[in-house]
Amino acid sequence: MIESAGMHLDRANFVWEYATDENRRLVVVSNRVAVEGPKPDSGGLAFAIRAALESSGGIWFGWSGRVADHAASEPETIAKGPLTWATLDLSQRDFDEYYLGFANRVLWPLFHLRAGLVDYSRRDFAGYLRVNRMFARALTPMLRPQDLVWVHDYHLIPLGRELRRLDQGQQLGFFLHTPFPPAEVWRVLPNHRDLAEALCAYNLIGFQTESDLHGFCDYLLRWAGAEDLGHGVLRAFGRIVRADVFPVGIDVSTLAAQAEAADGSRHMRRLRQSLGDRTMMIGVDRLDYSKGLPARFAAFGRLLEAYPETRGRVTFLQIAPTSRSEVPEYQEIRRILAASAGDINGRYGEFDWTPLRYINKSFNHHILTGFFRAARLGVVTPLRDGMNLVAKEYVACQPEADPGVLVLSCFAGAARELGEAVVVNPHDIEGMAEGIRQGLTMSRGERKERWTAMMATIARNDITRWRQRFIAALANSGAGQ
Ligand code: UDP
Ligand code: G6P
Repeated sequence: MIESAGMHLDRANFVWEYATDENRRLVVVSNRVAVEGPKPDSGGLAFAIRAALESSGGIWFGWSGRVADHAASEPETIAKGPLTWATLDLSQRDFDEYYLGFANRVLWPLFHLRAGLVDYSRRDFAGYLRVNRMFARALTPMLRPQDLVWVHDYHLIPLGRELRRLDQGQQLGFFLHTPFPPAEVWRVLPNHRDLAEALCAYNLIGFQTESDLHGFCDYLLRWAGAEDLGHGVLRAFGRIVRADVFPVGIDVSTLAAQAEAADGSRHMRRLRQSLGDRTMMIGVDRLDYSKGLPARFAAFGRLLEAYPETRGRVTFLQIAPTSRSEVPEYQEIRRILAASAGDINGRYGEFDWTPLRYINKSFNHHILTGFFRAARLGVVTPLRDGMNLVAKEYVACQPEADPGVLVLSCFAGAARELGEAVVVNPHDIEGMAEGIRQGLTMSRGERKERWTAMMATIARNDITRWRQRFIAALANSGAGQ
């Protein structure tokens, strides 16, 4: 083992691993915190962070998920093994302005290229800044000078700057799980300059894909007078910041083992019995307008219409747990999908066959992995997605001898790595129907070939490598400022 200033070389993965200890801890901050373990409807960030912290340990700081009469100024902590959770409640006003308002009705639609859905108000922006300041004040007493602080996602862009204002000199890293928009779209935000400046308070900023990184750097260079110092380093707003791509991965071996173990479970027996000898295709998404579900349903309808031989032969299981249901756009998408599912089943269903099983409840990973394994097709067709972990999970869960096919949107971050999927454009309903048919009729030989290549990719860049690469880059990204 080679050692240098808190780092050692992990020869298996060829990356420098940051050695954490009592004085030099990994402190992760995110809005959504999965205390003890992620709930099935927590979303990809919570699953990724939980899996990443499993082996390194550290502190995970963020929102408790509760709305209380008054926001607490001191976090509630729970320690279990090497991991400590520290969480704060939000007041109703904070929840409305910071979480529902600015984070989820401004940044979320904007980052997913839905500028028309942005509902901006100065009050919500002030609430967003206020909660970030409150998080920084509550976190500061817990921090030690040598800690590495890793902040996650769009809710907490200003947190690094608030920590700097409180004289915190630690290495600060930020990772964006969602896409970052092109410069022209970022400029739709009335506070684009202020938030870009806030991002530059971090030493390292991580993105899912090259195009997200490009959107950010392009903005800094063309609209904020930044200077490109080469090797991913920029001088902007009087600071030096490094930006790079770190595509998030999954715990491939654990998921594959879970899928195999799930095979004999009661859920799987019930599923098989209900399907008979029909082929199943599966979709698993939070009920979010970014996931492209109306077009996916339409593509399934088109499949049944254009290829009558699929009628009575294919069942589509769409799991879509409700999400952010206080936001009007999420209520609207729910209404649209309920109507569309009813329409498809009414038009094509038979007394002994329901073509589309559309379910608004969530399932835990143990059950889902079995469902993935049993499905001949995984259909992942978001209009835009930072990564989409479901795409990778579907691949990880396939049986080696007879793997299924992934039908994947070209606008999911995962498509940058999984080029051997059947890649479709989610705006082209007929193209998606053809992609599904191609998957349904694909030979076992071709399925194996495509799957083997995708499996090698997700195993190479798994969740451990994601953590190690980010932490190593953060530890090496210059002295805290
Ligand atoms: N998930 C789950 N149960 C469900 C639905 C989703 O465990 O009923 C998990 C899914 O397996 C994945 C995560 O939630 O790990 C969703 O992550 P993804 O990146 O696909 O989308 P996000 O919700 O973050 O936009
Ligand atoms: C996406 C976001 C996460 C968020 C998750 C679930 O994955 O990138 O930051 O936690 O969705 O959304 P929620 O609003 O329930 O936290």
